[in-house]
Amino acid sequence: MSPHTFVIKIRPKSPQKRSILTAAEVLRRGGLVAFPTETVYGLGADALNADAVKQIFVAKGRPLDNPIIVHIASTADLEALTDHIPEAASRLIEKFWPGPLTLILKKSAGVPDNVTGGLDSVAVRMPQNKIALALIKALGHPIAAPSANLSGRPSGTSAAHVLQDFAGKIDMIIDGGPVSVGVESTVLDLSRKPPAILRPGAVTQEDLAPFVGRVVMGRGAEGKKRSPGTRYRHYSPKARVMLVEPTDEAAIARLVNQYIKGGEKVAVVASRFTPRGRTRPIVRIMPQGLDEYARQIFAVLRELDELGVDEIIIEKTEEKGIGAAIMDRLKRAAAR
Ligand code: TXA
Ligand code: MG
Repeated sequence: MSPHTFVIKIRPKSPQKRSILTAAEVLRRGGLVAFPTETVYGLGADALNADAVKQIFVAKGRPLDNPIIVHIASTADLEALTDHIPEAASRLIEKFWPGPLTLILKKSAGVPDNVTGGLDSVAVRMPQNKIALALIKALGHPIAAPSANLSGRPSGTSAAHVLQDFAGKIDMIIDGGPVSVGVESTVLDLSRKPPAILRPGAVTQEDLAPFVGRVVMGRGAEGKKRSPGTRYRHYSPKARVMLVEPTDEAAIARLVNQYIKGGEKVAVVASRFTPRGRTRPIVRIMPQGLDEYARQIFAVLRELDELGVDEIIIEKTEEKGIGAAIMDRLKRAAAR
């Protein structure tokens, strides 16, 4: 497709207007622009241009039935996407937008079918990132954007990650520095009762409950049908991932020795681990704080891939707060 991918640096706190206009022009012509959001980088196309959206699937190698989140800059943008906003959605929008919460709403006729993978619903969110918001405003249309990674790979949390996956395949990458959340948005389906979290994120079940009452985790076959993205193996490094219970250094050491004896290159991702004996795995010590952990995890998985690791032993995290989202991604990375 594009022979050259332009990387432009934009200030995250006060985005340069000219650069934003340049990027918006690329989108207006049907091109692909990767841009930062507060969660992860997104790979954007004009959401109302079906041909442009198609290029997202091509560039990512994404299954055509996996729908894409549409990003808006103001609640007025919802008009182009849905004819009906349920009351619960209004309360959530008031409280959590802009922010890492995606709402599944009934789609209006104006939304191209390929955006929603043929579903009659559309996933929408308003990101909390000045560059993202300015870009949507400058385009004057919502932007369809999945996470900016090749399908099945860990999501990109820096412009460098995006370049790794898409150099020569997309028109432009906006380098707006590191992301602040690090894992993708919470996806909430309000079309069923009780509402279901199809993908956990920084906005948790406890955060949502006061606004919508009982909320369930939408796992299992039903959840898969409703959120096709959760059907595929995801967030996966090329290496095999093995999850272990926290603070069990002895168990980790046993696994390390076993793998190394088998001639494999091993990495340990844990809050603490002191290698003993002669065999030395690669060790990445993760922060205790879950917010900081979330910001780092995808970068660590990518880095270990670069190093050609065969096996990654990862210590489980707590599942409170954003920990539920982290564990969801780790479990997916470990699933084969
Ligand atoms: O934080 C995020 O959400 C990032 C940034 C770029 O905004 N985007 C992101 O997009 O993670 P993606 O495409 O990697 O994940 C979107 C998820 C998928 O699991 C997809 O199946 C689900 O949302 N989804 C999208 N539209 C849906 C719909 N209409 N019904 C159910 N699930 C939907
Ligand atoms: Mg993704």
